[in-house]
Amino acid sequence: MKTMHEWYPRWFERKQKYARTDERFLSEDRFASIGVGIGLPNIVQKSTFSFRNVKDGAERFLGKSKSGEKPYARIYTRLGNPTTEYLEKVLFQLDCQHIIDAALKADERKPTIGSLVFASGMAAIACTTFALVKSGTAILSGNVYGCTDSFFRSLEKFGVTSRFIDMTDLKAVERALEETPHVAMLFLETPDNPTLQISDLEGISRLTEKHGVPLVVDNTFATPFLQQPFRLGADITIQSLTKYVNGHSTSVGGVVIGPWNFVGDHLFPVYKDHGPTPSPFDSWLNAQGVQTLHLRMERVCASALELARRLEKHPKVARVYYPGLPSHPQHAVAKRQMRAFGGMIAFELQGGYEPGVRLMDYFASYTTPMELAVSLGSAVSYIQHPASMTHSGVPEADRRARGITEGLVRWSVGLEGVETLWHAMEEGIAQAYRG
Ligand SMILES: Cc1ncc(COP(=O)(O)O)c(C=O)c1O
Repeated sequence: MKTMHEWYPRWFERKQKYARTDERFLSEDRFASIGVGIGLPNIVQKSTFSFRNVKDGAERFLGKSKSGEKPYARIYTRLGNPTTEYLEKVLFQLDCQHIIDAALKADERKPTIGSLVFASGMAAIACTTFALVKSGTAILSGNVYGCTDSFFRSLEKFGVTSRFIDMTDLKAVERALEETPHVAMLFLETPDNPTLQISDLEGISRLTEKHGVPLVVDNTFATPFLQQPFRLGADITIQSLTKYVNGHSTSVGGVVIGPWNFVGDHLFPVYKDHGPTPSPFDSWLNAQGVQTLHLRMERVCASALELARRLEKHPKVARVYYPGLPSHPQHAVAKRQMRAFGGMIAFELQGGYEPGVRLMDYFASYTTPMELAVSLGSAVSYIQHPASMTHSGVPEADRRARGITEGLVRWSVGLEGVETLWHAMEEGIAQAYRG
């Protein structure tokens, strides 16, 4: 196999055996039970840990541990911490329990999958990228969050080029893989931010595999409850935990889950030397969020589907982007690879920018439900303007080409009552045309 990553062939073999499945999801019952676990761990608010003796310290620095504890989680918190270790374990099980089960059944002796929790989603993305690229290589990226987009572009000065392609078009993906020399990774979001386009993970993974290119999926919008990218052929998954996993906008965090040899031999050295480590308290908050993730996802998916249907029928709404609507261009793909369609909606009012701004300003008032704020996945609904906020860093021509118009409004549906949200939205739209 032709690949620039020495860890890839071994992973490829294990991926075919354990990761790809016809079944799309972990059962709701098992997901809920893993998420809740046996209760939250204590917060180990310490920066450094004492060793039993010099031999113990030296062994921990070599990554060895007799007790079964993660060795790097008991040296110095920049390298790892027991509270963060708990979160790494639970997140990795939610994404990959089926891989663990299959590997154990096959009596696989060596670990297959590893995970690392970061201080933010961007830290997770940046460190994964640094672990994969080198000068002279290229990144193939889909439409991605504004800071991911600008981070990829910033690597030009190190000799790493980024090419942005339409990941909903398998032919375009195939062409890009064939034409672009030295591709270090293919990175995409699905559903993407903010236009909620869906990429066919199964189809794309078959193409990346032909070229030995790792497929990295930012699964922030779906979470492993709605979509399990490893079953569909992904090689590495990333989430911003700040969003649905935390669920209450009380901390910032990120996670990377990937092949054991990649995480241990390539990602961990970047982690150790860059210092993108979360605080133990933030890891604890995110672990608390995991316990209710499935319930909150079920609720926001049901609410967003209903609200998207109502928006689509509203005479003042020009376009609605929601993967659960039959009118969505990739509705069939979403149905195939997602358990439900998520809590994010994007839409445009008739007349675009001006009424859109008046609508969002309406929600800036404390008397209305929702907040005029970026971020997503919280108990509270958020409304925001991608072109001037989350995606303002994307060059204007690229924004337009990707459908991030001046009039586009993004709505993160929260846990409020649907009728309360709809009543406020109707009122906001009416106000937007009163001038
Ligand atoms: C899809 C997606 N990925 C990554 C990030 C970055 O995450 P964080 O803000 O935790 O750094 C965001 C933030 O909005 C996002 O929406």
